[in-house]
Amino acid sequence: MEKTTDYFLRYKNYNFDIHTTPEYIDSLQSFEVRDSDIFLVTYLKSGTIWTQNIIISILEQDGGLPAHPTNMRQMPWLEYKPKHDISQRPSPRLLMSHLTPRLMPPGLKNKKAKIVYVMRNPKDNIMSYYHFCCALAHWETPKSFEDFLEQYLAGNVVGSSWFDHIREWHDERDQYDILFLTYEDMVLDPKTAVTKICSFLGRKLSEAGIDHIVEKTAFQNMKNDPKANYQFLPKDFLKGPFMRKGKIGDWKNTFTVAQSERCDQIFEERLGDLALKFIWDAELAPQP
Ligand code: PPS
Repeated sequence: MEKTTDYFLRYKNYNFDIHTTPEYIDSLQSFEVRDSDIFLVTYLKSGTIWTQNIIISILEQDGGLPAHPTNMRQMPWLEYKPKHDISQRPSPRLLMSHLTPRLMPPGLKNKKAKIVYVMRNPKDNIMSYYHFCCALAHWETPKSFEDFLEQYLAGNVVGSSWFDHIREWHDERDQYDILFLTYEDMVLDPKTAVTKICSFLGRKLSEAGIDHIVEKTAFQNMKNDPKANYQFLPKDFLKGPFMRKGKIGDWKNTFTVAQSERCDQIFEERLGDLALKFIWDAELAPQP
């Protein structure tokens, strides 16, 4: 493990937050995956905590999920050693991760367990990530937006390259039982998104049940929900609200034309062949 900065560590060609260790990351290679496990995988700042709340709410409504004081305890991170041994938990176990396929437990392959993968258009992802870096106490505050943008595009941030993350999960998709969603589709049509997740997880909820989850996990309601809004993190850990804006197209308030064109060009070069359809601007989005 190479200590690259004060807040991230490079190991196995990936930048980890300093709150994990090489030994723990290595131990994931023998993590025993159950068929009933549910993983949520994202690149940072793509709507993880929102989707976490949706998945937990679906399972809670369907019954059989033991209560936990916060969503973080109910669905912990795979890459950080949990306080309580996850191997002892009853099924279904819920886990979140920002890792790429090669760092995940190999037992996940061959369509064992389910993976919900959420991605967000990179310009809004950059914006959200930039503000998060400014708020997270143990990370280096970016010198400027321009400087952060360069670091992000080069993959010199925790989570490494957004482009690699999207590429690797798409290239390996056939090996997994995986549902791809975009943050933008979720914002524009949350009911369809909740319904898709529900049916992917093999759960049957009534229409009223789905509506209830859409309402409960709406940005403003989640912001007021102490179990879900991450305000439970200590103030000296996170200096700003976790739930910041929750919008599509916020990047337009900050990016210059040149910065936007540079992102478009790199996006095309790195991922153009995947024909991904991101919504970059809510005003130009097709009506659901
Ligand atoms: S993290 O730190 O990687 O787990 O962050 P992550 O949860 O992936 O992403 C945080 C962004 O998601 C927004 N968010 C939401 N948007 C819409 N609706 C709901 N309910 C919701 N909950 C969280 C959150 O505000 C962050 O985006 P920005 O653009 O910074 O507001």
